Amino acid sequence: MNNLILTKDGSHTIFSKEINENYHSKHGAISESLHVFIKNGLEKVEKKSIELLEIGFGTGLNAFLSQNYVEVKKIFCNYHSIEKFPINKEQFKNLNYPKTLGIDKKKFIDLHDSNWNSLNKLSEYFNLIKIKKDILDYKTNLKFDIIFFDAFSPEKQAEMWSEEILKKMFTFLKKNGFLVTYCAKGIIKRKLKEVGFKVISLPGPIGKREMTMAMKI
Ligand SMILES: C[S@@+](CC[C@H](N)C(=O)[O-])C[C@H]1O[C@@H](n2cnc3c(N)ncnc32)[C@H](O)[C@@H]1O
Repeated sequence: MNNLILTKDGSHTIFSKEINENYHSKHGAISESLHVFIKNGLEKVEKKSIELLEIGFGTGLNAFLSQNYVEVKKIFCNYHSIEKFPINKEQFKNLNYPKTLGIDKKKFIDLHDSNWNSLNKLSEYFNLIKIKKDILDYKTNLKFDIIFFDAFSPEKQAEMWSEEILKKMFTFLKKNGFLVTYCAKGIIKRKLKEVGFKVISLPGPIGKREMTMAMKI
């Protein structure tokens, strides 16, 4: 069972009882997503058409912010997102992201109501491809410009941060593509380097000193 909780910027997150961790920073779910995945992620992809892969669809917050971003900027995005344990309707309909961001609630609900394992054309600029799968079993020949690596922390879900998975992320990226994550642990940065990434530490969101960008050059 997962519980809805309020973070310091007034936006919700979910607490996972199974993992014993929040889906987002307690300092602010929207603030964290905007900082890590939009400002230091999408905004740094200098392209008019973007192939994006997210690890962990979860609440759909990153997808919601990304959709809004590409529609405002008139950039095209194929948003692929892997999720093994989708949240249920009771949970997503109560999340306060549309209200907090001042965006039509229907757009947020549409993200969740979209079909799994197929392409959902949600607007002129945004296609959503949600894949209900364990990341360990996910295979593709597609190459991505950017990866949102938004797994639970290495302390709580070590298997998501294994060399095998990080190597997979490296393979999935195009040349000059990059991965962003809120995680700034030394051991994870070393693993990212070992699998071939150039690792860049960036200032973190509120409440965190650093975050990580990992480039395939
Ligand atoms: C930290 S949460 C973040 C989710 C999302 N990006 C958000 O903003 O709500 C991590 C997500 O990874 C998912 N997850 C956990 N193990 C997974 C696995 N083996 N494969 C795919 N997704 C997984 C969880 O269910 C959860 O939704």
